[in-house]
Amino acid sequence: MSSELDDFVQDLQNQIFDETREAYGDVAFERWQNPLYMGAMDIPDGHGRLTGSCGDTMQIFLRFKNGRVKEATFLTDGCGSSAVCGSFAAELALDKGPDELLEITGDAILKILGGLPKEDEHCAYLAGETLQEALNDYMIKQRPKDR
Ligand code: FES
Repeated sequence: MSSELDDFVQDLQNQIFDETREAYGDVAFERWQNPLYMGAMDIPDGHGRLTGSCGDTMQIFLRFKNGRVKEATFLTDGCGSSAVCGSFAAELALDKGPDELLEITGDAILKILGGLPKEDEHCAYLAGETLQEALNDYMIKQRPKDR
């Protein structure tokens, strides 16, 4: 009996995974299963935090070394797509300098994913905009302090 229930649950889970992979594509599906770079960072050099129109909040943390991103992480309380997009925003930021970071937009994230369903595209824009907030925070901290 218990094995029948296990089989049922397993079949259901496989069906959900198949449908998710079909709808979101292989790249997003794999990253959803393994959301790299997730987590907070102590005393980041740049920190962005934005709440999207959907009500979900994304954070991106950057640590720089010699003017380039050495570590990048993200946090989100949002949907699976926001975790996928935050993860790719962090990955794309690695080893980049400020000028290159400006090019990491929601469109750049969508391109890597080969697109997302229309209703989830805003998750990529939230990740891109949060990364830009983190870069902005870093740039402000680089300004010489007035004496
Ligand atoms: Fe809010 Fe995806 S639905 S970030």
